[in-house]
Amino acid sequence: MKAIASTTTEVRGASVALPQWRRHEPIRSRASAAMPPPAPRPVGDLGVLLDSHGRTIRDLRLSLTDRCNFRCTYCMEPDVAFAPAGELLGASELVRLGRVAASLGIRKIRLTGGEPTLHPELLAIAAGLRDETCCEIALITNGSRGDRASVAAWRGAGIARVTVSLDSLREERFARLARARTPLAEVLACIRHAIEAGLGPVKVNAVLLRGENDDEAVAFADLARRLDVEVRFIEWMPLDSGHAWRQDRWVPAAETRAAIEAVHPLRPTEGDDPSATARTYRFADGAPGRVGFIAPISQPFCGACSRLRITADGKVRPCLFSTTEWDLRPLLRQGADDASLRRFLVDAAWSKQAGHGIESPRFEQPVRPMSAIGG
Ligand code: 5AD
Ligand code: SF4
Repeated sequence: MKAIASTTTEVRGASVALPQWRRHEPIRSRASAAMPPPAPRPVGDLGVLLDSHGRTIRDLRLSLTDRCNFRCTYCMEPDVAFAPAGELLGASELVRLGRVAASLGIRKIRLTGGEPTLHPELLAIAAGLRDETCCEIALITNGSRGDRASVAAWRGAGIARVTVSLDSLREERFARLARARTPLAEVLACIRHAIEAGLGPVKVNAVLLRGENDDEAVAFADLARRLDVEVRFIEWMPLDSGHAWRQDRWVPAAETRAAIEAVHPLRPTEGDDPSATARTYRFADGAPGRVGFIAPISQPFCGACSRLRITADGKVRPCLFSTTEWDLRPLLRQGADDASLRRFLVDAAWSKQAGHGIESPRFEQPVRPMSAIGG
């Protein structure tokens, strides 16, 4: 993997090396004014989002913010820089993009981040999308702001499904991994509130790291059984702001599954959506709950990908691992009509790359970390 470009800056008289992500200027200028190359004319006339590899785009990941109140070690360095507030899309811009995307066949919109519940207008955005689209609205959260009243308000605003990220079931380890002040009990309570509010099937995402929390696979499976939720184990991808990802630190899905099967035999679930990221399993003994495995590295699922991402600062990223992103914000802010936005999305979707290429010796980690893309 190529090392990230770095620069030096003066901090209190000392010269400090900064990875490129922390230098806002070059990243902004590199990305701004980039228009996707036009897709062939007939593709634009079809009224759906297709890519040049024969995939149809149905899922939009709409990031509300790159900010987060956690600093999970595999995601964000404590001193990661956030985009200036003025660069983030406003609630009406986000809703408008959702509506335009829905007119192009998007069926599901996942509100993501950073931590989307930090957005002061989360409820207005969700309600706008509910009122102006026919899409299912889902939310992914770290569970730190999901008390009973908030979860009820999410539901009231049209959020239909919730996924909670949680990487350890042990209090001290959770605090160390998430570098969070939120007690583990609050995140667990958020999961329970989401279940009680009917925001299901509730999913719990866990990223296992070698030697850090990879001994908790069975504990997470037990949580799935106890709460009747789907726990999904995600292989750690090279998308962290600190560029600390290493081949020997991610845990292959097969290994996690074997650890669970040694205690709780599993049966594949019938009828998984082929474009879904997770392969899911029921418990052979008929216990409630499920486990799922999201294995982008050991079993890439790019061939069936149906996703498109829009970052909180208005860049369209056809792939998590796109090295080129298309800047929709100037168009939005220059008063473009819906037809122009539609054409932009059609062209951007057409440019989607075939796959992430993590396995390739030429793989280059994108400059943007996951938190600034939208998971
Ligand atoms: N690799 C894999 N998963 C990640 N997530 C955040 N960063 C990474 C990464 N580098 C997870 C979060 C959340 C979801 C959006 O992606 O834990 O559950
Ligand atoms: Fe925040 Fe999610 Fe990243 Fe953790 S993984 S720091 S909760 S954005």
